[in-house]
Amino acid sequence: MKPTLFIALLLAPLAALHAAEPVRIVVDVDQPGHAVPATLYGIFFEEINHAGEGGLYAEMVLNRDFEMTTLPKGAKWAGNLLRTADDWQERKWFGNELWGWQFVADGGARGSIRLDDREPLNDRNPHSLRLTVREPGARAGVANGGFWGMNFVAGRWYDLTFHARTDGAERFDLNVALESANGRDRYASAVVCGVGGAWKEYHVSLQAQAGDRCGRLTLSVNRAGTVWFDVVSLFPRDTFQNRTNGLRPDLAQALADLKPAFVRFPGGAIAGGLNLDNRIQWKNSIGPIAQRKGTMNLWGYWTSSGLGFHEYLQLCEDLGAAALWVCNPGFSDNYRHAEYAPADQVKEFVQEALDAIEYAIGPADSKWGAQRAANGHPAPFPLRYVEIGNEASGKVYGTNYVQFAEAIRAKYPALTLISNQRLKDAPVEIVDDHKYGNPSSFFNAYGQYDYADRNGPKIYVGEYACSRDVGEGNLTAALAEAAFLLGLERNSDVVVMSSYAPLFFHVNDIAWPVNLIGFDNARVVRRSSYHVQRMLASNRPDIVLPTRIEPAATPKDSDLFAFAGLDRKSSEIVLKIVNRFAAPRSVTIHLNGSGPLAKKARMIALHHDDSTAENSLDDPEVIVPRETTFAIPGAEFQHMLPANSLTVLRITQEGRMK
Ligand code: AHR
Repeated sequence: MKPTLFIALLLAPLAALHAAEPVRIVVDVDQPGHAVPATLYGIFFEEINHAGEGGLYAEMVLNRDFEMTTLPKGAKWAGNLLRTADDWQERKWFGNELWGWQFVADGGARGSIRLDDREPLNDRNPHSLRLTVREPGARAGVANGGFWGMNFVAGRWYDLTFHARTDGAERFDLNVALESANGRDRYASAVVCGVGGAWKEYHVSLQAQAGDRCGRLTLSVNRAGTVWFDVVSLFPRDTFQNRTNGLRPDLAQALADLKPAFVRFPGGAIAGGLNLDNRIQWKNSIGPIAQRKGTMNLWGYWTSSGLGFHEYLQLCEDLGAAALWVCNPGFSDNYRHAEYAPADQVKEFVQEALDAIEYAIGPADSKWGAQRAANGHPAPFPLRYVEIGNEASGKVYGTNYVQFAEAIRAKYPALTLISNQRLKDAPVEIVDDHKYGNPSSFFNAYGQYDYADRNGPKIYVGEYACSRDVGEGNLTAALAEAAFLLGLERNSDVVVMSSYAPLFFHVNDIAWPVNLIGFDNARVVRRSSYHVQRMLASNRPDIVLPTRIEPAATPKDSDLFAFAGLDRKSSEIVLKIVNRFAAPRSVTIHLNGSGPLAKKARMIALHHDDSTAENSLDDPEVIVPRETTFAIPGAEFQHMLPANSLTVLRITQEGRMK
């Protein structure tokens, strides 16, 4: 038995006592308050924990561009670390310079592979892989096992693209195959004849005849010689919304199910970078994948820039969400010993942001709008927000913010700008607050915004997660976040947006302790925090209704947190209650001044008897919301809340004006 469950059981008699205290939740239905903005629940994407590379981005080849050893300007390798000139150290994620690739030699073949920088594909991809075959044997070539194994599904199609060259007149018939990790089973193969000469792009489609969760891709020849490869890419044909260079459908669907109002991108600290050269540079991430420039990302692994600015904007459109793009503010990440652009060069960073905005929403005949059209999207994308920097602080931030804000407002007055700080000398529309902590800090923060300045900027809680003392993300964390979010809904006259962070984690590379959605190369797990998000977002009322718990208690002493609102379209009272105690609890619900009520109401509840329970890849449905109906006897009724639960009650008022 888990120790916490044991303690909970010991406390059960106490809980029963506690539960015996009569508690009323009173909702003043006849006193509607402020509107709850439709923008309240969004999502935050950052390339961390292999969220994109090896995750949401459906590319199956690891280190497709052979650039994994490329360092940000001024940085050095120091043993197992990358060290910037400002002495920030980051882990080195790869083990050798051809990480992800292996030489394959069957039937007595002899040869080698090495990283080469002669005759590069282009200046953005200066390295390639050179395959030298001395004895061809049965076959000699290279294999790539992807991100912890390639997942082949029987009957599905896979599209392979690669670039190859040879010296002079040498030509190869190249065998490409999808196969098992040891090469014994082959699921699909094809021969590409006459590969060679100057750099050329080749395409092959392969249909897997059998499934394998841990497969690999091979490219091999059966005669002696030398061939170079670059930008070798394998995509499943099935991507989210069938986009080319697209996204993994199961992970993208998890996002779609959240119905986010906005998607923040690219982060996160990554927007700043380890140094200025390492910041996300959106221009490196558009156009054909072979023209893109990857980066050693701030979370210590190589990123191909495949899930780039265009794919991000496309995702927003596909999700029906607004884009919230974060630009670099003219210096790198504060926390990682910021490198500042000299004051007279900040205008170049401002221009970089203006160009990005033009790419997203400028007319199709503008310089960058034309690039967007050339990349297949003549119409503007739904960019609505630009945040200037991430967690950036200090005097320089204030000065740079003004420069960015003035330039952006002058050209794009319809955009909403978000600041990392409240600024004394500059108008700020929305300020971004971040919150990470343990459960008590989240439960206590239920009232955090009750006294926020109503005359100051609106607030975007841009990153939050109950990420301490909660295992890898257990139910306690989810309930603590639920209480905090009810506080945001209540204060949504001033808190207008929120997003949990980080969004994704690959179970084989967890750089951040607690995250929302886990995955491996084939499976996905939605943590209980995810279900809280989804429940609250899909039950967001339009109008706040005054809600109180009697007798009143401070959040610190309270086991119950409640908030209600009105869904105007369906004429429903939406009441949300967190019961953090490890025992069921009966409460009296009083709907003060309501109209006549339908006899049956809906209840959606997320709960588990063990508050330390977690969903996992092997057991993803330990904690999932369940929907039932219950009878409503009148405007006052008793209701039993499950132990450790978030409950949403939807009660229809009959004959009410919509
Ligand atoms: O969400 C993970 C990191 O936490 C973000 O990159 C950064 O903004 C914050 O400190």
